[in-house]
Amino acid sequence: MSANLTPVRRDPGYTGLTAVIETLPSHYYFDADHYQFELKKIWQRNWVYVCRSSAIAQPRSFRTLEIGDQSVIVVRSDDGTARAFHNVCRHRGAALCRSSEGRFPAAGIVCPYHAWRYNLKGELVQTSSAVNPDGFDRRDFPLYGLPLTEWGGFVFVALSKDPPPFEKAFDLPLARFADYELDKLVVGHTLKKLIKCNWKVFWENYNECLHCPGVHPKLAQLVPIFGRALLERRDDPSWQDHESDEDPRYAGGLRSGAQSWTMDGKPVGVPFPKVSEEDRKAGHLYLTSVPSVFIVTHVDYVRVVRLLPLGPELTEMSIEFLFLPETLAEKRDISPAVEFTNIVMSEDAEVSELNQRGLKAAPHEKGVLMPEEYAIRQFQDWVRAELSRP
Ligand code: FES
Ligand SMILES: [Fe+2]
Repeated sequence: MSANLTPVRRDPGYTGLTAVIETLPSHYYFDADHYQFELKKIWQRNWVYVCRSSAIAQPRSFRTLEIGDQSVIVVRSDDGTARAFHNVCRHRGAALCRSSEGRFPAAGIVCPYHAWRYNLKGELVQTSSAVNPDGFDRRDFPLYGLPLTEWGGFVFVALSKDPPPFEKAFDLPLARFADYELDKLVVGHTLKKLIKCNWKVFWENYNECLHCPGVHPKLAQLVPIFGRALLERRDDPSWQDHESDEDPRYAGGLRSGAQSWTMDGKPVGVPFPKVSEEDRKAGHLYLTSVPSVFIVTHVDYVRVVRLLPLGPELTEMSIEFLFLPETLAEKRDISPAVEFTNIVMSEDAEVSELNQRGLKAAPHEKGVLMPEEYAIRQFQDWVRAELSRP
């Protein structure tokens, strides 16, 4: 009799799936029409992380971002307010910004085609015709504004007039992150990778650790519970056997002696002064906002991983490493954090591409989730719900 047929005990509070759950259909991961549908139903309805507030700190500085086929401008006004607009002129629809970042002149936003001019509130100030048509009212042609929220030094936009409440876009209460004083942190390093996979493949990989022992040998050593293919204590069906065992193999958290996600477990940055003992012990705290970003705090740095869909089978991942300003002022060597992340994220990118390659196999209309993949189920249920919203 195989081990899988032996009845197992499932302790109360066990998090794993107990029924057979099907995955999303395979064509959701490569079909061009379905991809467009997801851009509309998911990417154009939810909050998307653009950049750090510091990237548009100066009055009139801007960034643009391509979210699928939509281009967005975020710009800081002279009064300090950040605003977002579709990157399009109201005249005949030329793109207003050619570059991905820069600073508008004091005159405001001038369309490179026929020089219509807008102020930073998006109001049309001037056309270029000798005389405007009778009945033409400049007030009828402002830039198309978009909701923008700044929190913790992060700028988010939504391509919808009616996005979900901002706080609801996250899996934890934002107040939980107050100790990290995120708005004070500065970018010490950035990494960018193109991954040949659908954006959902990346998130599904993010949502399970069944792959951790085989794919992430270094991470499995640093976070011993990951080495058991589990994310948390109660992911083990017989977790009560070790209910009060504080060994990180059972309790989670970093291996004994390690304090941060770095090559040797030693912090590289000046530690955040207000981090609680609980967070210090855990070694990492994840904040997730699908579809575009997850933020991981450690005792000395914060990792921000943003995804953007570039096509049905291509995703851009950008990673920012945030530190206290002192860490950069003291010129500390942050490479052990960057290197560790690079190893783990490259391993994840590689298996995500592997996953994508297999999904087109003609007979594989869908897959099946295993107990440890309960968080994938939540993600896929969210995708289904978004797609079926009117
Ligand atoms: S399209 Fe912008 S001024 Fe003509
Ligand atoms: Fe992974």
